[in-house]
Parts: sequence; structure tokens; C-alpha cells
Amino acid sequence: MTAPQDPVALDESFLTDPHAAYAALHRTAAVHQAVAPDGVPVWLVTGYRHVRAATKDPMLSVNKCHGRTVGNQGASMPPELDAHLLNTDPPAHTRLRRLVGTAFTPRRMECLRDSIRRVTGELLDRMAPHSHANIVSDLAMPLSMAVICDLLGVPENNRPDFRQWTDTLQSSAPDAAVRSREAMREMHRFLVNLIDRKRRAPSDDLLSALIAVRDEGDRLGEDELVAMAFLLLFGGYHNAASLIATTVLALLTYPEHLAAVRTGGLSMDAVTEEALRWNSPAMLAVRRFAKQDVRIGTTTIPAGERIWLSWASANRDPDQFAMPTTFDPTRADSNGHLAFGHGAHYCPGAALARLENSIAVSSLMHRFPELSLMGTADALQWTDSLRSRGLRELPVSL
Ligand code: HEM
Repeated sequence: MTAPQDPVALDESFLTDPHAAYAALHRTAAVHQAVAPDGVPVWLVTGYRHVRAATKDPMLSVNKCHGRTVGNQGASMPPELDAHLLNTDPPAHTRLRRLVGTAFTPRRMECLRDSIRRVTGELLDRMAPHSHANIVSDLAMPLSMAVICDLLGVPENNRPDFRQWTDTLQSSAPDAAVRSREAMREMHRFLVNLIDRKRRAPSDDLLSALIAVRDEGDRLGEDELVAMAFLLLFGGYHNAASLIATTVLALLTYPEHLAAVRTGGLSMDAVTEEALRWNSPAMLAVRRFAKQDVRIGTTTIPAGERIWLSWASANRDPDQFAMPTTFDPTRADSNGHLAFGHGAHYCPGAALARLENSIAVSSLMHRFPELSLMGTADALQWTDSLRSRGLRELPVSL
């Protein structure tokens, strides 16, 4: 294990069991010097209080113009699409959020509730004749993709391509950089065409609403629209799918809580919050840059340096959550988790992700009363990404 004073290597060995690695870091400090997989230095913030406070620190910026470290761009969008929510600080960010807020209405959420129920029902029907299923590929991924596509208004026949591009963009395979650029180009071309079609023939979806939205004479420009659609898809798809699979895993490995859900003694809302805390799908925030020398805890981070806030680590900080590795939906404080971020960039898709998870998991549990895990939880494989954590497969017996 890395000595506390040495930079933490965020390498393959770290990724083998990030929760164990974060637990070791909790024992030493809340802020650590680290080396990212691309070899570039980064400050890793792991303590709950520190992560939460950092999200509200006006001296930390998501805007790359404040970055001094070479090579810290990561998988960024083409330059014309870079002015999106997660690259923008207030007040430009406040404007974009207000415009999104006017399109992300409670009524639209209600319409999606029906669609989530319908798609979940169809997927469970498809699983029913079999004795086994894989929750990731048979339920979580297709449901999440269907919801995002319904939200944006992506036609059925384009959805397989959509899924392919998104998977490529999230991949950390050795040839991922080249394939990602190609996927990004394809996705860009597709979204420009889709927006053009929606502009000519609007329908009842978020993209049409974003095109139409006007806010005191303001509206989203063409590039902003494409970037927004891109971000909604990219931010929503894998994370929401990961949450469904981890929630199922949690209930199957903690049978007392599963029994309580089935008898109505435990709400799916509580289960969802605790699953978000216990295995946060988005492990890291997008990078922040110190606009000037910034103090986090007892550490001073020099201006221009790159900072990674770890939601996953904060959500298992023993100073904040008692017995943090235990999945316990009856704990009083699980909803203090930071799985959806905090502050100005708090996830606008949080309500949708919660809704989707509650419907998918409770429908599954009630439809298949004998549901059980095939094999042991320890043998399950997780995605090897620092940013997002999800199960590759979740085989169950129905
Ligand atoms: C379980 C599912 C999800 C998780 C865990 C999650 C997590 C997060 C987190 C942690 C952030 C803050 C990033 C930061 O501050 O660096 C964020 C932002 C964002 N999320 Fe989600 N998200 C989920 C689902 C969704 C969905 C379903 C959508 C869209 C439909 C979505 C769209 C976005 C967008 C657009 C942002 C940027 C907001 C901004 O910068 O103002 N997310 N999400």
C-alpha cells in the first residue's frame, strides 16, 4: 500500500478494489496527492466534509481555462461543444441550468413514470420464460437507455447505435481513445440531425422543449443544444443502469432488507438512497481547478492544479457514516450522501434516476419472489473505471 506521503497511484491495483483503497486513504488524510492513470498529477479529496465544502467553494472552477497541468482535458467534447454545464461556472452555468430547469418539468417526469413502468414490464415479461437472467443486460441497461431515449425523443431505430457510441465513450480499453473520437463524431452528427428534425417537427420530448424554451428572450444556441443532449445521455445512461444493478445486488445479499421491502416494511425510497451511498455509480466529480491557492482541510492546493472530488469515498467516510461498508437502508442518515453531487452542479437527473430505480427494482422483486443471486457476490466483476462503478454482469436465478 502506498505510504501516506507518496502520491497515490490511481492505477490498476487501485481499481481492483477502489473501496478498499479509499478506506485505507481515510485512515491517513482527507486530501491526497495522486497520479491519474494518464500520468498527470491530481489532488484527490476523499473526506466527506471536505468534498461537500469543495463543491461550494467559488475558488474551485470546472472551467478548463483555470487548469495549469498539461494533459488534464480527459475525454472532452469537440471544442465547439465544450461550453456545457459541466465545463461552466456560474453565472454562465446558472443561465444553462435555468433553461434546462424549464424543460425538465414535473409533468415530464410523470409522463416518464408511465413509460418506465411499461418498459420495465416488457423487459420482465421477456425474462419470465427463462430460469436465469442477467440483471445488467436484461433489465438495467435496456431500461436506462429506453428512458434517456424517451426523454430526448430518440427514435427506436437509432437506439442501438446510440448505445454503442455511449459504451465506446465510457470504455477504458487500450484503443478507447481512437474509438472514442470516432464515436463522438458519429454522435455529434446524429444529434445535429435529430435537433434539425425536431425543430421542423417538434414532439412531446425534452429535446423539443429545449429547442422551444425561451427565457426572457434567451435561448439555447445550436452547439449548446447538442452539448446538452450529449450530456444528458452521457450523464444518465450508465449511472442509472449501475444504480439498478447495485440495488438488486444489495437486496439479494442482505435478505432481511429484501424481506422487509416485499412485506412493505421498508420503502424503496430508503433502499434507493442507501444503495446510492453504499455503491455510488459516479465515483468521481468532473475535475475542478484551483483558481488561486486553495486550502482544503489542512492542505494548500496551488493555483491551476487539478482536483478530483471522490463522491464514492465521501459516501463511505467513517467520520460521517457509521459502519460505512454495510448496506443498511434503515440508517437515519443515508440521504446525506453525495452520490448526485452537491451545489451548483447537483445532478438535474436525480429525480428521474430515483424514480427509475424504485420502479425497476420493486417490480423485479415482486414479479420474481424466488429471485436469488447465482454464485457469490465476491465473484462479480465491476467496471474498471475510476469515474463510474457498475457491475459488468449480475446473473440471477428467477
Ligand atoms: C444514478 C444515476 C445518476 C447519478 C449517480 C448521477 C450523478 C451525477 C453527479 C455526481 C453529478 C455532479 C457532477 C459534478 O459536480 O462534477 C451529476 C451531474 C449531472 N447529471 Fe447526473 N447522475 C445520474 C443520473 C442522471 C440522469 C438520469 C441524467 C439525465 C437525464 C443526468 C444528467 C446530469 C447532468 C446534465 C449533470 C450536469 C449538471 C450541471 O453541471 O449542472 N444524470 N450527475
